[in-house]
Amino acid sequence: MGAKRILDVGCGPRKFCVVTACLRPELSVHGIEQRPRLVRVGRRLARHFNATNAHFWAGDATRLSWDQYDGFYFFNPFAESIFGDTDRFDDSVSFSTMRFGVELLRAESKLARARAGTVVITYHGLGGVIPSTYELVADERAGSDRVRTWVQRAAPPAAWAWFETSNTVERVSRNHMHEALAPLICGQSDGGVITRSQTTTSPTDAHRNGGSFGRVLALRRTVRR
Ligand SMILES: C[S@@+](CC[C@H](N)C(=O)[O-])C[C@H]1O[C@@H](n2cnc3c(N)ncnc32)[C@H](O)[C@@H]1O
Repeated sequence: MGAKRILDVGCGPRKFCVVTACLRPELSVHGIEQRPRLVRVGRRLARHFNATNAHFWAGDATRLSWDQYDGFYFFNPFAESIFGDTDRFDDSVSFSTMRFGVELLRAESKLARARAGTVVITYHGLGGVIPSTYELVADERAGSDRVRTWVQRAAPPAAWAWFETSNTVERVSRNHMHEALAPLICGQSDGGVITRSQTTTSPTDAHRNGGSFGRVLALRRTVRR
């Protein structure tokens, strides 16, 4: 689609990075992952397949500048913050609903600033919203969910944003979203609005795009009644 430098946001053991780097040697494929153990696994995988155009490091993807990239891949990386304890991959990193809210807002803001032509691919959704300036250009079933391809257009931002669920893509009010996230970011929801029983869900459900931010919106509505 024209992207040359791709970032896998939360790249895990780097399956996507290594496969993409091997299939498309002209691309520069970067992955950032919060769990150093997975970074080490990924480096071994890349060496094994001689994927010299794949590069990885450990760190927080939402604190990195995304300006140098024109392609992004998200496999619903942020939702783990609102999984129940037993559904997390491991306890080597700390999670909170505050962290979830902050990461969604950072991702939205970084995507909004991306250059026209930037390509975003989501699998099991991004978890949060995608700015209205992105156009959905492909939406296909793959494995246990859908792969969606979005392209940033040179369009003025609107008061709404895209929100993915497993089966649909909907427009949601940005004000509504920011209102829903505010109590999480202020720390007013930990142990309050979102309890463990409310967030505990099967890993399959929790990976579903509607399962993360959708639950936040639903809880917000519950709180208002
Ligand atoms: C659902 S896995 C997807 C892994 C990989 N992208 C794939 O397609 O197989 C999400 C990964 O994102 C990582 N992650 C979540 N938030 C992150 C952050 N803020 N910075 C870096 N990695 C993050 C998690 O540790 C986890 O390995």
